[in-house]
Formats: sequence, structure tokens, C-alpha cells
Amino acid sequence: MSEASKTAAVYAGTFDPITNGHLDIIRRARGVFDQVHVAVAGSSSKKVWFTAEERVAMVNDAVAGAAFADGVKADSFDGLLVDYVRAVGAGVIIRGLRAVSDYEYEAQMAHINRQLAGDIETVFFVTSEKFSFISSSIVKNVAVNGGDVSPFVPQVVVERLKKVLQSKKS
Ligand code: COA
Repeated sequence: MSEASKTAAVYAGTFDPITNGHLDIIRRARGVFDQVHVAVAGSSSKKVWFTAEERVAMVNDAVAGAAFADGVKADSFDGLLVDYVRAVGAGVIIRGLRAVSDYEYEAQMAHINRQLAGDIETVFFVTSEKFSFISSSIVKNVAVNGGDVSPFVPQVVVERLKKVLQSKKS
């Protein structure tokens, strides 16, 4: 890995929507890497509520104003993650590990990505305890059932979820 590439990392995911758990990983990753590219997967096998543009906008709004915002960029990508990592000049893929149950899937992805691009390393951040139970799906489940999602997601996402639920009703 070159010196330059060590300073830039890509945090990839679906982010449908971004949660406080994701934000915690971005903040901590920014403490290690000079640049953190948040890569929002444009196409996903998941049934998403938000378009890629909306998911990128929520990431940008959630990060704006934070002490770690400088050096964080969000964008969407299609195709292979390793190609995106190369395109932005990064050398590291960041993933969050919440529990042992995440390990199998994450290890599989890390192995595949290493087969595809041996010069790109995957680095795992252990999710903070207080966010270890959060996922984007569980947040959407709480929201659709009328629960308060404000402890789990940034304010911009609370508002976007309200809007999307209103439009689903009408
Ligand atoms: N806080 C909160 N939630 C977290 C979290 C954290 N710290 N860490 C993981 N999660 C949750 C996410 O919210 C998400 O929840 P959901 O399933 O309810 O949506 C889940 O854990 C994991 O999803 P995510 O981190 O978004 O990853 P993903 O599996 O959706 O995305 C890609 C995987 C997009 C990065 C991967 O498929 C990819 O690289 N695709 C491009 C094609 C490619 O390169 N393929 C070959 C390699 S697989």
C-alpha cells in the first residue's frame, strides 16, 4: 500500500438511512484516516426506501457541522467497491462490526475484495456498545410502527423518515 493511499479510506454501505451507529464509525475512522469517503451503494439487493441521491444527501447533512466533517465526503457508486476505492485514490475499506453475527458476512466480503484487489485492505471498527443493536432496517421498522427514532438517527433522518411515511399514507 502506498503512503498516500493509507491516509484515505472508503466506508461503504447502503445507508438506507444513515444511523448514529454509522456516524460513530465515520467519526472514529476520521480520527485514523485523513480522508473518509462515504460510499453509498447505488444499486442494492435490499428494498430501499430512499434513492441513492437522497441517501447521499442525508449522509452529507448528518455530517455537516460535525467536528469531524472536514475530510469526509459522501458519494454514490455502482459496480465493484474495489474499483470505487481505486478511483478515489484510497487504499482501505472500512466496515463496522456490531456483533459476532456480523463476522461471517464481513469476512466473506473482505476475502472477496482481497481476491479482487490484493492491495486494498479491509479495516474493521468495532461498533460502540450503545449502537451495537441498531440497523437501518430496525430504524425503519420502528418508524413505520409509529415509534420515536430520534435516539437512533440524526435529526435530518428523523425528518426524512416522517416525510416518506406521510407520502406512503397519502
Ligand atoms: N451502525 C448501524 N448500523 C450498522 C452498523 C453500524 N455501525 N454497521 C452495520 N450496520 C447495519 C446497516 O445499517 C445495515 O443494516 P440493514 O441490513 O438493516 O440495511 C447492515 O448493518 C449492513 O449493511 P451495510 O453496512 O449497509 O452493508 P451492506 O451489506 O448493505 O452493503 C456493500 C454492502 C454495498 C458495501 C457491498 O455489497 C458492496 O461492496 N457492493 C458493491 C459490489 C461489490 O463490490 N461486490 C463485491 C464485494 S461484496
